[in-house]
Amino acid sequence: MRQQLAEIEARALAAVAAAASAEQLAELRVAYLGKKGELTAVSRMMGGLSAEERPAMGALVNQTKDKVEQALSARMAELRQAEQAARLAAETIDISLPGRAPQRGSRHILSLVQEQIEDIFIGLGYRIAEGPEVEYDYFAFEALNLPPDHPARDMQDSFYFSERMLLRPHTSPVQVRTMQKMQGELPVKIISPGVVYRRDDDATHSPMFHQVEGLLIDKRVTFADLNGTLLAFARQMFGEERQIRLRPSYFPFTEPSAEVDISCFNCGGAGCRLCKGTGWIEILGSGEVHPHVLEMSGYDPEACSGFAFGMGIERVAMLKYGITDMRLLFDNDIRFLHSF
Ligand code: PHE
Repeated sequence: MRQQLAEIEARALAAVAAAASAEQLAELRVAYLGKKGELTAVSRMMGGLSAEERPAMGALVNQTKDKVEQALSARMAELRQAEQAARLAAETIDISLPGRAPQRGSRHILSLVQEQIEDIFIGLGYRIAEGPEVEYDYFAFEALNLPPDHPARDMQDSFYFSERMLLRPHTSPVQVRTMQKMQGELPVKIISPGVVYRRDDDATHSPMFHQVEGLLIDKRVTFADLNGTLLAFARQMFGEERQIRLRPSYFPFTEPSAEVDISCFNCGGAGCRLCKGTGWIEILGSGEVHPHVLEMSGYDPEACSGFAFGMGIERVAMLKYGITDMRLLFDNDIRFLHSF
């Protein structure tokens, strides 16, 4: 029996040492120590021994079982450790890889130009006013002297939500909103940059574009003030040599009205492709605020007067940076956007 035990022990230990997985170890445990296991079978044979032999043999069987048991747990611990080491090795992070820098963004050219315009007028003492893009017909047209069915609405009639609400076709409603908020107080001196919407769509017109409105009302504001203000703006924006020219025009909310051109900064006025040979480039619409417009929003045309203007930011940006197609401003091509 001793010999048998020694033989089983040797076999069991060799098998445990060779086991390569937890499952194999579990199988070995059953095969040697389980109810029908080899060592269990040996202990059952104890019954056939004499009373003198029994204690010594019993101890030997137990020792053998213990040894096999210990070998099993030791091997199990080894396998666990190896498995963990393998997992750690597989999950190693290479901290020497260079990082991925986030891409630097840049300001959109329209934002830049809008800010330049704002800076110039803030320097002249104007403050910035804002108004909604979804506007009432009343502010967009009626209070600007464009009653329903006025033919001049055709130039601008555009995106309606209902009978009374539309996407504003110009920033001029902010004139009305500002006057009504200020309730007759003087001076009114604001510019209002923002998005406007019209039905145009070609290389030089977009259905969505940006304007800056300007409004000055005080005791005695004349056309000379308008002229001087716009000249100061043109020179700061496009260079000290610039001249401006006012051409008679028509807007229902200004009287008299003028279209304002600046002398072409490309050719200096001699005539080139940019100015279509005329030496002048149109940049905005303007005029003296119509007495009826003042009156409708609580200002007495006998006691004060004012001028207003509206310029397209895209136009200013295109002229200043020589951009020939307005759609480039909205395509969001990174190469274009990064070039300013
Ligand atoms: N609102 C006019 C337009 O969009 C421009 C303008 C503004 C003209 C203020 C005169 C005074 O064309």
